[in-house]
Amino acid sequence: MRFDVITLFPELFEPHTRSGVTRRAYDSGAIELKLWQLRDHADDAYRRVDDRPFGGGPGMVMLVEPLQRALAAVRADRGQAPVVHFTPTGQPLTQAVVQEFARGDGAVLLCARYEGVDQRLIDRHVDLELSLGDYVLSGGELPALVLLDAVARLLPGVLSEPSHAHDSFSDGLLEGPQYSRPEVLDGPGGPEAVPKVLLSGHHADIARWRREQALRTTALRRPDLIARARERGRLDARDEAFLSTLKL
Ligand SMILES: C[S@@+](CC[C@H](N)C(=O)[O-])C[C@H]1O[C@@H](n2cnc3c(N)ncnc32)[C@H](O)[C@@H]1O
Repeated sequence: MRFDVITLFPELFEPHTRSGVTRRAYDSGAIELKLWQLRDHADDAYRRVDDRPFGGGPGMVMLVEPLQRALAAVRADRGQAPVVHFTPTGQPLTQAVVQEFARGDGAVLLCARYEGVDQRLIDRHVDLELSLGDYVLSGGELPALVLLDAVARLLPGVLSEPSHAHDSFSDGLLEGPQYSRPEVLDGPGGPEAVPKVLLSGHHADIARWRREQALRTTALRRPDLIARARERGRLDARDEAFLSTLKL
């Protein structure tokens, strides 16, 4: 799949393609990433891509025309592809959205700066608006990197073990606690051992314990996700019996 990123800060993306497990997605060609410097599509000597908002107010707005030229250059290079604009007013970027991208052919990611983009560009060219959360960042680059990272780890061959099947949100629940060495940790409150079941070697018991811990964590922290899992028929009688024992 191919992602084209239109940005004023292409250098922010390079570390992501060179570090950690996601690097494999780029090295193997599972993701082709092409970065487009928006200023190359400005039409004046100052390479300006922003101007004052009509009607007044603070800050600057990104101009339609350089963005249109950049999009035309991307399309000439790769053909049609969905255009994604990151904005706090977009729909939340969830694991379900990420899974959809992981099944697709890629997209053009539009990273805004300043106070955002002239609405006419959005109306004419944008297919999907995504928000990272209810806070304001200084640009769309971090949201684009978050999407790329989350998609990359779902692609075949990127993770050495397919651990994402157990990740939070993959089955609609949050992940429960995890433990590694030492088996017993000394501390001021006395020695603390990992849960015995994890040392039992009994796979079915371990799977059940993990499911219950996921249910507990989700019920405590995100009861909305329990309600949604219930609506979607993802909780069975054993899950419901366990949930009914929790003192919330
Ligand atoms: C300083 S922000 C502009 C915020 C805009 N004036 C508003 O109030 O919605 C600059 C750019 O960062 C990106 N951005 C900021 N917060 C974001 C978020 N939570 N999710 C996605 N993109 C965000 C958007 O591209 C936005 O246009």
